[in-house]
Amino acid sequence: MADLKSVYMGIELKNPVIAGASELTSNMDAIKRIEDSGAGALVIKSLFEEQIQLERARFDEEQHKYDDIHAEMTSIYPNLEHSGPEQHLMWVRKTKETVSVPVFASLNAVNQETWVEWAKKLRDTGVDGLELNFFANPERHEESAELLEQEQLDTVRAVTKDLGIPVSVKLSVFYTAPLATAKRFGEAGAAGLVLFNKFFHPDIDPEAEKFALPLNLSTTTDSRLPLRYAGLLYGDTRASVCTSGGIMDGLDVAKMILAGADVVQVVSTLYRNKITQIGRILNDLSAWMDGKGYASLADFRGKLSRKNSTDPWAYKRAQYAKLLMKPDPLEIIR
Ligand SMILES: Cc1cc2nc3c(=O)[nH]c(=O)nc-3n(C[C@H](O)[C@H](O)[C@H](O)COP(=O)(O)O)c2cc1C
Repeated sequence: MADLKSVYMGIELKNPVIAGASELTSNMDAIKRIEDSGAGALVIKSLFEEQIQLERARFDEEQHKYDDIHAEMTSIYPNLEHSGPEQHLMWVRKTKETVSVPVFASLNAVNQETWVEWAKKLRDTGVDGLELNFFANPERHEESAELLEQEQLDTVRAVTKDLGIPVSVKLSVFYTAPLATAKRFGEAGAAGLVLFNKFFHPDIDPEAEKFALPLNLSTTTDSRLPLRYAGLLYGDTRASVCTSGGIMDGLDVAKMILAGADVVQVVSTLYRNKITQIGRILNDLSAWMDGKGYASLADFRGKLSRKNSTDPWAYKRAQYAKLLMKPDPLEIIR
């Protein structure tokens, strides 16, 4: 059987398949099944700023309960009733104690102090690394790209300073210049780049004239974007590259490694095909490698990156123009 050993942010993994952050990694039964299925590592569901703020609000409320009762306080974050940050820390610690594969915590904060304070608290649980989940939709017109990116870079610098465990950044797909931004994150101290975060957007139910928030799982075509950027980043960053988004099966993982990824994260495929899909992914990746005569991932990592590809057009605009200038690109005109 092919050797699937991988290194992510300096940490040795038995294989490159990481279960990404989701509800599945906030459930002990699912976590055990993730480990039993052979995952190389897992990322625990993010701790969110809202959970932390709610706890603080409750604390204030306790202190001032006789002079001013904030009757609506808990209704602001209705789903977070039983998910305080202290419970989250206990949960992360318990997960780390229960499984033998590397465990990464994930944090999604807003304020600089919260990022730094809670990064340290999460580190103290004993996790192997920390993922910064930069999920923030621009809401204010006056927020420029420069300002938003500078804030994120400052956060990476502040969090990584003296933390003592490796930190990855889960990037948004919306940077104007993703390669330059990825590079700057690396220089600011990120040991890993997760390409990319998944953004959940509101939908509108036209009958009810109300907002809906559907949880759309990825499809396999979503993997093209991370594949492109893994291919472009290969050899140009010291940070580990972890692709995420639309990776469904063993061949999708093979493609990512060919492009240049170090490791991958999977979530949607575990919802669609059950957690045992991890085992199938590993078997299929292994079988593909055996068929190709590859003994280890290093034998083909980055073979189809921009740096190593023999096709000079693969990552260029010309490829796009070539496709769209075809008289019938989808071959539907008969
Ligand atoms: C139900 C669900 C919950 C998620 N929760 C988190 C989370 O807490 N933190 C995070 O960074 N990403 C979260 N994600 C995003 C995933 O980690 C992943 O980036 C995304 O789903 C893309 O990977 P996929 O195409 O394999 O699903 C969640 C995704 C789903 C479907």
